[in-house]
Amino acid sequence: MTELDVYNEALQSGLYQKRTGLLGKYDNVRCFWEDAELGLYLRPYLKRLVARKKECGEGLHLLDLGCGSGDGFEFITTINDSKSLIYEHNAKVIEPDMLKFYQGIDINDGLLGQAQAIYGNKENMSFIRSDFNDFDLGADGPYELYLANYGSLSHNTNEQTIELLSNIARYSQDGALIMVDWLGRYSYEWQTLWTKDLEHNQWMDYAISYIHSDGGAKQSEVICFPLRIMGRREVLHIYRQAKRKAGGVITLRKLADRSSFVGRHMDTAQYNPCCQPLRRVVNSLFEPGLCTNLDEALVVYVPGDGFTEVNAYYQRFADCWNYLVTYTRALVDGGKLPEALAEMPLPLRRATSVMKGVVRAAARIKIGNARTSLVEPQLGYCLRELEMKLQRGQGCGHGLVAIFEVVK
Ligand SMILES: C[S@@+](CC[C@H](N)C(=O)[O-])C[C@H]1O[C@@H](n2cnc3c(N)ncnc32)[C@H](O)[C@@H]1O
Repeated sequence: MTELDVYNEALQSGLYQKRTGLLGKYDNVRCFWEDAELGLYLRPYLKRLVARKKECGEGLHLLDLGCGSGDGFEFITTINDSKSLIYEHNAKVIEPDMLKFYQGIDINDGLLGQAQAIYGNKENMSFIRSDFNDFDLGADGPYELYLANYGSLSHNTNEQTIELLSNIARYSQDGALIMVDWLGRYSYEWQTLWTKDLEHNQWMDYAISYIHSDGGAKQSEVICFPLRIMGRREVLHIYRQAKRKAGGVITLRKLADRSSFVGRHMDTAQYNPCCQPLRRVVNSLFEPGLCTNLDEALVVYVPGDGFTEVNAYYQRFADCWNYLVTYTRALVDGGKLPEALAEMPLPLRRATSVMKGVVRAAARIKIGNARTSLVEPQLGYCLRELEMKLQRGQGCGHGLVAIFEVVK
């Protein structure tokens, strides 16, 4: 079975449809953790770009590489402005008339068909069936924004990505942004694949068995295809090569991990039998009307032999995560608050203070179930915030996110 068949099977399963809550491609973690986190990483750079464009009275042109069903459009147009106030219902970084043109490229007809069905009537959007490595950037551009989210460039070899990034840099104007999200080399989900021999272990056989509602397909149904896994060193290597090839006009602005304990293969435990189904638990935190057993949200991190730096990050994050969950449970139950950790990093102190305020406010709310509609989603946001503040961009998550800027 080919890569195209795999995506088509996912599409036909119905679980690749929009907004699916507890399961499927657009589950709560995708919407409220992953998309939101990518948006928060991009926001400061995007705001600067938007401000510059507004000053010249110009709009933005976006190229979505491996666009699937046009996912980059919703992603980019729903990034909240940091200063939005409670009464502003639509304060987005990119206002509707700011995005002049969206171009989606993918090699998969099925996904492009879905994209057409959703967005086909919009005049400023177009979809092309093409290999993004062969796309003529010079003829079609310029674009100011390039997205390759959720592993699109993990389909590429190093050489292809170096060529692509350097071409983008060459054909774009000053200030253009490129967001890439590779598969993280040191994701806990595939701890059995961790290695020090980066040269000979660049790819993993990636299964999308997680689309099945039982959390994992039967062994006979598991379909895999090769995807490039990336750590910090490898991104830096690609970046330096691309920069040299493009004559120095590209700069790495950000390198960050996403989804350290909530990646899709936490639930399948397919590559690491120690994984707990934490994505399911966090999906439940975000689900209105569903009460989550917070004991199930506690992480038991099992270190990988010989990976000191990676283990140190995961253990510290697990300690902070567990402290916040235990603290919240005590606030909700009216129990004894846990002893402070020996080291209480600022993001954790902030998160406990937020949860304290929210649980107090929830206790005064007399309508509906404030625990499921307010406290649990807030715990989800605070855990996400902890990840963003503690991560070190090492490849310790399902995704390793890089933001590049063209500087001319
Ligand atoms: C994991 S999906 C990500 C989809 C989407 N960006 C999202 O946000 O969910 C990767 C996508 O890249 C596409 N793809 C892989 N290699 C490609 C290539 N060389 N050219 C164009 N699209 C490609 C696949 O068909 C698939 O839709």
